[in-house]
Amino acid sequence: MATPRRALPGPFSGLSVKLIATIVVVILAVEVVIYLPSAASYRLNWLDDRLRVGIVAARVLDAVPDAMDLPRVLTDRLLTSAGAQAIVYRREGQSQLIDFEDAQPLTDVVTVDLRQRDIATMVLGTLDTLFMGGDRTLRIVGTEDAQPERIVEVIMPETPMRADLLIYSRNLFVLSIILAVITSVVLYFIVSRILIAPIRRLTFNMMGYREAPENASLIVAPSRRRDEIGIMERELAAMESNIFSMLRQRRHLADLGLAVAKINHDLRNTLTSAQLLSDQVATLDDPKVQRLAPRLVNSIDKAIGFAQSVLDYGRQSATPPRPAPVRLQAMIQESALEAGLAGHPGIRWVNAVPDSAEIEADPDQLGRIFVNLLKNAREALEAKLAELEDPMVETRFAREADRVTLTVSDNGPGLPPRARDNLFVAFEGSARAGGTGLGLAIARELVEAHGGHLSHVDQPQGTRFDVVLPTSLRTA
Ligand SMILES: Nc1ncnc2c1ncn2[C@@H]1O[C@H](COP(=O)(O)OP(=O)(O)OP(=O)(O)O)[C@@H](O)[C@H]1O
Ligand SMILES: [Mg+2]
Repeated sequence: MATPRRALPGPFSGLSVKLIATIVVVILAVEVVIYLPSAASYRLNWLDDRLRVGIVAARVLDAVPDAMDLPRVLTDRLLTSAGAQAIVYRREGQSQLIDFEDAQPLTDVVTVDLRQRDIATMVLGTLDTLFMGGDRTLRIVGTEDAQPERIVEVIMPETPMRADLLIYSRNLFVLSIILAVITSVVLYFIVSRILIAPIRRLTFNMMGYREAPENASLIVAPSRRRDEIGIMERELAAMESNIFSMLRQRRHLADLGLAVAKINHDLRNTLTSAQLLSDQVATLDDPKVQRLAPRLVNSIDKAIGFAQSVLDYGRQSATPPRPAPVRLQAMIQESALEAGLAGHPGIRWVNAVPDSAEIEADPDQLGRIFVNLLKNAREALEAKLAELEDPMVETRFAREADRVTLTVSDNGPGLPPRARDNLFVAFEGSARAGGTGLGLAIARELVEAHGGHLSHVDQPQGTRFDVVLPTSLRTA
């Protein structure tokens, strides 16, 4: 395989890296969304646990008429097991409190009411603990499920809860990272196999094939996949085969064209010798020869003309225009002479191009355009000379901004339908005996090589062609 000229994308711009990055970002984003509710639920459980100890303490208090009667050891143990500084129990308008003997005064109290358990309150509470929490005092308020009118409060420092919440968050974060890495590695291998590897194969193939499109062994071999990639492979293979056969056909045509040009060249030379001979034969006095000679001369002239125009057609497409200042009136006049129009006994010739008109163009090619157009007009008029009142060919000139329009018109019979259908198509456009059908094709090609446009303009009578050319020729 040929080495591709353009390299594949670098390590950080390839599809695989984009894929991994996307997977990791998506997983982390999902984790963030999941994190807050799960942290809130963790905090709720933590608080519920502490409240439950408070409820146990409340039941004990319920059993004795006065909290003061409880042994100090028991109350202290109750408080320690809940991690609490104090427990308050309210029922039917009276409240009871147990706390340590040497209880510290409470500072900076935050109340968490576990009777409000909706997700928004919980999430806000979690955020508050994480970002505002620290050395505050927590007041957990709740009720016993069976007796909602009895309220229990557990008073404790916030620090242990915040520490547990931070550990929980850290674990969750580490877990998310591990999960993201594992998922992206697994996904990467799967996607690599089914997507990226085939795309890389196609990319390599395209780059290699572009370097050597005439090498059929580089045409991609499609797999049997039935998905979009399979379709892409088959389409690419079809496209490459088409390009391959088109290129081969074009090369064959070019070879053939070259051979035809060589044969044609020799043919023209041979015909030219025959023309010399026939000219001499025509001078003989023999009446039979005198009768046949003009036809012979005519046929040979036609054959030479044909050979010459085919040669011209082959040659002209090869040379780009070489710009020079061209005085249009003189150029048109010369073309009319060459086309056998200027000085024609039966046709009036009008050159209405002003003397001052001048553009930048290739003088030879411009001449060839107008010789063809004017010759066509002359030939069309000559064929109908007897029927026409005042046979006339005219060339007019108009200038707009950066372009000029040269109009060649005649008052002849107009384009025959057969010519109209294939106008400007080489070898096809002729509707005249002995015509090659190259004149207009050549003319259009030359006009377009100048960045201009040649068009046939419909007329009620006669024929009109407009040659639009830029005033200065920009060559690439
Ligand atoms: N001014 C015109 N009036 C009437 N018919 C025209 C005129 N110009 C061209 N045509 C028609 O268009 C056809 C194509 O012209 P084109 O110059 O391409 O080929 P051709 O004159 O037949 O052959 P070639 O110019 O190669 O010797 C002509 O055969 C003719 O029938
Ligand atoms: Mg012609």
